[in-house]
Amino acid sequence: MTDEAERELSNTLCVLQMQKFYIETVGCQMNVLDSELVHSGLVQSGLVPTTDRYNADVILFNTCSVRQHAEDKIYSALGRLKHWTMLKPYGVLGVIGCMAQKDQKTIFQRAPHVDLVLGPGQLELLPETVHQLLDEKLQRNYAGQQESGKKLLVSLKRQEHRHTEVAESFRLFDPVRNPEARLNRFQAMVRIMFGCDKFCTYCIVPSVRGPEQSRPPQEILEEIRALVGQGVVEITLIGQTVNSYRYSTGGKTTRLADLLYQASDIDGLRRLCFVTNYPRGMDNDLLQAVRDLPKVAKHLHIPAQSGSDTVLQRMKRNYTATDYRELVDRIYSTIPNVSITCDLIVGFCGETDEEFQQTVELVQYCRFKNSFIFKYSERPGTKSVKLYPDDVPESVKKIRNNVLLEIQDKIALEQNKRFIGTTVEILVEGITKQFNKQFETGNVQLSGRTSCDRIVVFDMPDNRSIGQFLKLNIYDAAPFTLFARLPEYSK
Ligand code: 5AD
Ligand code: SF4
Repeated sequence: MTDEAERELSNTLCVLQMQKFYIETVGCQMNVLDSELVHSGLVQSGLVPTTDRYNADVILFNTCSVRQHAEDKIYSALGRLKHWTMLKPYGVLGVIGCMAQKDQKTIFQRAPHVDLVLGPGQLELLPETVHQLLDEKLQRNYAGQQESGKKLLVSLKRQEHRHTEVAESFRLFDPVRNPEARLNRFQAMVRIMFGCDKFCTYCIVPSVRGPEQSRPPQEILEEIRALVGQGVVEITLIGQTVNSYRYSTGGKTTRLADLLYQASDIDGLRRLCFVTNYPRGMDNDLLQAVRDLPKVAKHLHIPAQSGSDTVLQRMKRNYTATDYRELVDRIYSTIPNVSITCDLIVGFCGETDEEFQQTVELVQYCRFKNSFIFKYSERPGTKSVKLYPDDVPESVKKIRNNVLLEIQDKIALEQNKRFIGTTVEILVEGITKQFNKQFETGNVQLSGRTSCDRIVVFDMPDNRSIGQFLKLNIYDAAPFTLFARLPEYSK
């Protein structure tokens, strides 16, 4: 290479130091946390975040495979970015997350302009891989070559290898965080376990997130302390089946309830939440910890998926509708003022009207604060594909979805109305989307959440209370919202 060419290359590399990245995240809280960690890793590696996708030099899609619809959206977004890769020959387009692990090489086939496919068990390698790709692309473009190398980094397939080998190939990645990467400075998530071993027949998660692995409690507690030191007041412990958390060392086993006690002792931490629970394993010691520890949020998210024993059997959920009802009874009788939320799937293979009706009855019995209702979406590679036809027509799934939503909304409204006239404490989270209100009334509309995860909106002259705890009087209710005023304005 001539001196001049070397100078030109080094100038371009200097510009690369300030290259920008953009991450688009879909899916569950696990993905939101992964994106935050990737954001931190990329910033530490010298890249700069941008919220403008088209201005970015590195675009990453953090993807979800739980339902077909989520994947379709990503493939069409990738298709729309074809012109971006032509405009930015040095740019890197990457697909990370569950779809990367599930589809692997297929992503390069369906979207040949994608440079990087990296699964959720390989995030640690992301910053160096992105830099390698940026450097390679620059070198190739400099040399006048069109094609650049592609990188595929995924974990081992569960069906094809031994359990320990697969677990090792899903590397845990929970580095020190950059507070700028979070949505706000006062709330943070902490992963306590990775993967899932439940293998519900409809679910892709055990394949794409790998075997259950719990993090050592000391590491979790240190991470919480560090976050609280950065000003975090609310921590959410996350895991695909968070109540399966179990870490044994030196003859001592730590479970989720133990972690709640230990984390509650951390000064400065005000609220502790945890998601998502599996109905089995909601032991009394866990419920008592939720009841007895004032910092622990009085809200439990426990997916039931169906209210029919036969459907639950086909789903391989390992409990009956009666077991679930008994669990709900036990929760309501143990923890005062607790709220329960649920995930439900309608139109699972072979679901009859009677079976669906049993789900309706479960919802009516359990009085959930709210339910996330999904139409069954067949996932290639899951057990249900091999065992049962996806035979409930889309139109029936849609009707069942709407019927259940309507019933759930009615219950949510009834529950929320019980709060009218009471005083609640909330953590103020941010400004609502009603910007115009400020011009009409001079106030901003803020929103926050109670310990039982109810959204509360209220007006304030300014937004200085964001990130603080406030006591408010509730004067009205809608299915998803409570309306409140400061006590001094309530008389
Ligand atoms: N189809 C529809 N919903 C699904 N879920 C998981 N797999 C599927 C599927 N194949 C839902 C479950 C789970 C939530 C995160 O997504 O209700 O609790
Ligand atoms: Fe999927 Fe079942 Fe595991 Fe939840 S418990 S992640 S639904 S396999």
